[in-house]
Amino acid sequence: MRILFIGDVYGKPGRKAVRHFLPRLREEHRPDVVLANGENMAGGAGITRDTAREMFDLGVDALTTGNHVWDQREAIEYLDEEPRIVRPLNWPPGTPGRGWTDVAVNSATLTVVNVQGRVFMKSLDDPFRGMDALLKELAGRETIFVDVHAEATGEKQALGFYLDGRVSALVGTHTHVPTADARVLPKGTAYITDVGMVGPRDSIIGSDPTAIIERYLTQMYRRLEMGRGPVMFNAVVIDVAADGHATSIQLVQDLLTG
Ligand SMILES: [Fe+2]
Ligand SMILES: [Fe+2]
Repeated sequence: MRILFIGDVYGKPGRKAVRHFLPRLREEHRPDVVLANGENMAGGAGITRDTAREMFDLGVDALTTGNHVWDQREAIEYLDEEPRIVRPLNWPPGTPGRGWTDVAVNSATLTVVNVQGRVFMKSLDDPFRGMDALLKELAGRETIFVDVHAEATGEKQALGFYLDGRVSALVGTHTHVPTADARVLPKGTAYITDVGMVGPRDSIIGSDPTAIIERYLTQMYRRLEMGRGPVMFNAVVIDVAADGHATSIQLVQDLLTG
């Protein structure tokens, strides 16, 4: 099974870049399934019905999210209705939505999981034990993809080695900056610390630098604006064998100018 996973899609520029690159990538890489992180699709903060529908219409099969999942109020209801969107599984019990979903891929099933880190982030439930419990529940499923949405490199690497051989792929999102460490771990899990985003290059994590620098200089609230410039496109292509072990992970990076 070949999986194309697109990093955090940031606002309108990000959605435009997905629209631009996805048809070409389908021809070039022939993925069996396309996934994307959608936590920043609505103006950089959160996910809405319209922005999600836009991705599904482009042929994205399922969306993961992260800490920004609830930034748009409508997501609270929407995530309960839409099985193709997952939010981190380790939010407290009773949180709307779901932490994992099954996607039919040809004659197989891909289980898509989202989990969030706790270092320099909200104190959610333990992602390590949360994954242990989930994998028990998922016993019998061969192909499992995990989007680990976390700030700290070390926490993502720890989850990578903790789950090595137990999931097909574990890829990082959230920092919006791609890392150069994509590889298959010793027991067969495809891994990268962060895929990076699909969003404006002349930005700080997607936002225009001016207001963010002001926030640092004054320690006061400043409204953020969309970043500018060419749009970075960051994704990975992962090959998974029939037994659920990954055989390769490859970066797919491009730039949309004009
Ligand atoms: Fe993000
Ligand atoms: Fe995030």
